[in-house]
Amino acid sequence: MTNLFDPVRLGDIDLANRVVMAPMTRSRAGAGDAPTDLNVEYYRQRASAGLIVSEGTQPSADGKGYCRTPGIHSVAQIAGWRKVTEAVHGEGGKIVLQIMHCGRIGAKLNKDPDAETIAPSAIRAAGQMFTDAAGMVDFDEPRALETDEVPGVIAEFGQATANALEAGFDGVELHAASGYLPMQFLSTGTNKRTDRYGGSAENRIRAVVEMLEAMAKVAGPGRVGIRICPGVLFNDIHDDDPRETYSALLKTIDPMKLAYLHLILLQTPQVDGFAVAQANYTGPMILNDSITLERANQLIDTGVAAAVSFARHFLANPDLVHRLRSGAELARFDRKTLYTPGSAGYTDYPMIYK
Ligand SMILES: Cc1cc2nc3c(=O)[nH]c(=O)nc-3n(C[C@H](O)[C@H](O)[C@H](O)COP(=O)(O)O)c2cc1C
Repeated sequence: MTNLFDPVRLGDIDLANRVVMAPMTRSRAGAGDAPTDLNVEYYRQRASAGLIVSEGTQPSADGKGYCRTPGIHSVAQIAGWRKVTEAVHGEGGKIVLQIMHCGRIGAKLNKDPDAETIAPSAIRAAGQMFTDAAGMVDFDEPRALETDEVPGVIAEFGQATANALEAGFDGVELHAASGYLPMQFLSTGTNKRTDRYGGSAENRIRAVVEMLEAMAKVAGPGRVGIRICPGVLFNDIHDDDPRETYSALLKTIDPMKLAYLHLILLQTPQVDGFAVAQANYTGPMILNDSITLERANQLIDTGVAAAVSFARHFLANPDLVHRLRSGAELARFDRKTLYTPGSAGYTDYPMIYK
C-alpha cells in the first residue's frame, strides 16, 4: 500500500512524503512587502511537510491586492525569501512559491501609491476587502489591459519565477483559482475581451497558458505547478461553462509535463472539477479541500492523487505530518488571528513533536 508518508517525485521535485502544506495568505510581510524573520520561523516550523506551497505572493506591485502580502519583485523581497527557503531546506523540506496576481481583487489603500488595479475587462467585483488604513472598502474599479499590455503582464510571471529561483525556491505555482487575475482571464463573467485573449475558450485560456510557458521557460516545466478550482464563485467570479473552459485548459497544458496540477475539489451544480481533470489531465495531481487522513490515503493508494494538501490543519499544527502519522489529536485554528500582524496565532501553535 502506498500512503501519505511515502516519498514521491513531482516533476523535478522530490518530496519526502505526500503531505503538502497548501498556500495560505497570512498578511504578515514586513516593510516593502518583504518576508521577515517571523515568516522564516513560521515556515521553518512547518518544514516536515513533503512540500510547502508558500502564501500567495505578488509578481509586481500591481499584482498586490491584500494588505501585508509579500512580493517577489524587489531585491529586499528576494533576500527575505532566501532566508525562508534556507530555513526550510535546513530542515530537509521543499518549498515552492505561489505566484498570485490579484488583478481586479484589490484596493488602492493596500497598494503602493503608483500601482494600478488592472484586469482583463473593466468590471468591478462586487464586495469589499480589508485595509489597514480604513477597514473594509469596496474593491477598486479595474482598468482593462490593452492588448499590447498583456504580454508585459505575462512576462511578470517569468520574472517572478527567475526571482523565486534566485531566492532558492524549488519551484513555482501559478495561482489560477479563487477569482484572481489568471481566473479572471479564464472566466466569461470577468473577460469580455474581443481580442485574442477573450471570447472563445481557446482565447480565454491563452493568458494562463502563456503565463505557464513564461514560468516553464525559466524554471523548466518540472518545477512549475498550477492551482485551479473550476466552478468556484469566490471573489464574484463566474463562468458560463467551466466544463468547457477547464477541459480546454487542461487538454492544452497536459503535454507541457508540469510538476503538478493542484486541484481544489469542489463539486458545484455547474461542474465536477475532479471529473474534468480526470478526463483531460494525465500528470500528477495534488488534491485539496477538507480531506481526511483516511480519504487522503485512499486517494493516494488508488493512484488518483500523487499528494494531498492541507491548509487549516497545517496552520494550527506545525508538526502535522508527525501528528497524522501517530494519530495524535489535531489542534484547531483560531479564526481571529488568521490575518493579524505578529506572532500570535502564527508561530505560537504548539508542537508535540520537535
Ligand atoms: C488563512 C487562509 C489563507 C489562504 N490563502 C490562500 C492563498 O494565498 N492561495 C491559495 O491558493 N489558497 C489559499 N487558501 C485556500 C487554502 O489553500 C485551501 O485551499 C483551503 O483552506 C481548503 O483546504 P483545507 O480544507 O485543508 O483548509 C487560504 C486558506 C486559508 C484558511
